Amino acid sequence: MSGDDTWADAPIAERAPVGARETADANRRWWDAEAEDYLAEHGAFLGDVELVWGPEGWAEAELGLLGDRSALSGATVLEIGGGAAQGGRWVAAQGARVVSTDLSGGMLAAARTVSRRSGVDVELAQCDACVLPFAEAAFDIVLTAYGAIPFVADSARLLTEVARVLRPGGRAVLSTTHPIRWAFPDVPGEAGLTATTSYFDRTPYVEREPDGSVRYTEHHRTIGDRVRDAVAAGLRVVDLVEPEWPARNDQTWGGWSPLRGRLLPGTLVLVLERS
Ligand SMILES: C[S@@+](CC[C@H](N)C(=O)[O-])C[C@H]1O[C@@H](n2cnc3c(N)ncnc32)[C@H](O)[C@@H]1O
Repeated sequence: MSGDDTWADAPIAERAPVGARETADANRRWWDAEAEDYLAEHGAFLGDVELVWGPEGWAEAELGLLGDRSALSGATVLEIGGGAAQGGRWVAAQGARVVSTDLSGGMLAAARTVSRRSGVDVELAQCDACVLPFAEAAFDIVLTAYGAIPFVADSARLLTEVARVLRPGGRAVLSTTHPIRWAFPDVPGEAGLTATTSYFDRTPYVEREPDGSVRYTEHHRTIGDRVRDAVAAGLRVVDLVEPEWPARNDQTWGGWSPLRGRLLPGTLVLVLERS
């Protein structure tokens, strides 16, 4: 769910190996620089106090993936890659104690603005989702709507961290780009309906600055990889949700569009529980 120019129109874009450190540094800079524009473009769709799982527009109030809504009251909740913390704010409004975290100080500054505007506050902290500064079993729920998961080089490490901070029986609900999308050009129209690369090619997507340094990157895993990483981390797979494009949504978000949404899944939501 990055800006519309991050795949198709990028001037220097390629599939190339890129390590964890370089990935985090580049993506922190990118989200810092893009925070304002990103929210100007997508903020109204996301809402200030709303947990929207992806460009399909399904909200947690409709899907109930976090579990029984009444149980959110008093729950301890960690949002990773929370951006402007819209999702965390919705959970807080249900009575949960929420910490919303993000790699980018720019996105957290936007979160503070939205908290003031909406009158719903959540605790904020800056961290990489692969290195969570929280104690073991500190949370009942970990969630993200498109934060961190598509952006980290070490998916296994991220899920190990999620499992570590969850209490036994706690739930993680993590949405991300549906892996099948990696086989198709990331454009909203007809050209986005023909597979052009291998689904099995895990080589990262990289945009470079004119001097060759990494500007932005995303990392692909297959569905099998995600499940394997979750199970290895000590998480049980409760559900893999592939939300269908609802007829009510006529909005395009980057490569996510009604045309493609009618034919292909755009979002994968991992619903996991700590063993
Ligand atoms: C598409 S936004 C998702 C945030 C929000 N839920 C939304 O829909 O706008 C992606 C977020 O992931 C964050 N992010 C990227 N890499 C991360 C990492 N390694 N750890 C934590 N957050 C990360 C970005 O800074 C950005 O705020």
